[in-house]
Amino acid sequence: MRGAFLYLTFISLLCGAWVNSYSNSKRDLNAVPQETDITPEEAFDLMMKVLMSPRCLNCHPSGDRPTQGDDLHIHYYNVQRGPNNRGAGIQQCQSCHQNSNNYYTGVPGASNWHLAPKSMGWQGLTKIEIAKIILDQSKNGGIGLDSLVTHLTNDSKVLWAFDPGINQEGVPRSLPPVAKETYIEAVKIWAENGAPIPNDD
Ligand code: HEC
Ligand code: HEC
Repeated sequence: MRGAFLYLTFISLLCGAWVNSYSNSKRDLNAVPQETDITPEEAFDLMMKVLMSPRCLNCHPSGDRPTQGDDLHIHYYNVQRGPNNRGAGIQQCQSCHQNSNNYYTGVPGASNWHLAPKSMGWQGLTKIEIAKIILDQSKNGGIGLDSLVTHLTNDSKVLWAFDPGINQEGVPRSLPPVAKETYIEAVKIWAENGAPIPNDD
């Protein structure tokens, strides 16, 4: 009797495991359609939440100086844009900013660290205004939609925002309000649907 009971328990455990893995695989199959359920409008909003986060805005100022922190205060040490967006005189961005975050000094880093050109200044603009700029080839460095998507999903400075290190006080910098994977998905959905910009907000 006891043997039969154990046997049955074993079988039901096996069945449980099978049902479990079956429903897991069903869930995996469903995962893709669920994500693409995001409408282009929702994708636009998710994407713009990232573009308007301090990590991006600090390098996309409308004036001639980078800013810092979540309050976008002017960059310390009187750092200036300079003629090539790489700093002025001895205050070159890349003399302090290296290719990766420095966890001893709190200096953030990513390859090719410098300021976005003035035509790409976003601070003080609405999400609609910023979206128009990133699509405007006279302002975005002359790039088409495909290159824009590549930049938005692959550029070292863009990706740095999702791994922004610590500041000089040793406090981790805040992340953009949307997770990296969701943001990348949103950019692609928005672009695949013709990169629509809503009329107003
Ligand atoms: C003298 C060294 C130095 C130079 C030169 C310098 N930086 Fe910085 N930068 C720093 C330090 C240190 C921090 C970190 C401050 C903190 O967060 O506590 C910083 C932070 C930043 C941040 C803030 C990141 C964030 O989201 O809070 C940006 C953006 C930035 N620098 C851009 C630039 C650009 C662009 C240039 C060149 C035009 C430049 N920096 C030149 C030292 C420098
Ligand atoms: C370290 C400074 C820095 C940071 C941080 C940064 N950018 Fe930029 N961005 C630049 C520079 C410089 C360019 C000019 C093209 C180049 O050299 O890569 C640029 C160009 C762009 C462009 C090209 C089109 C245009 O019209 O503006 C887009 C889009 C963009 N950045 C998005 C972002 C997003 C999104 C983030 C945050 C997740 C971000 N950037 C963070 C420096 C920065």
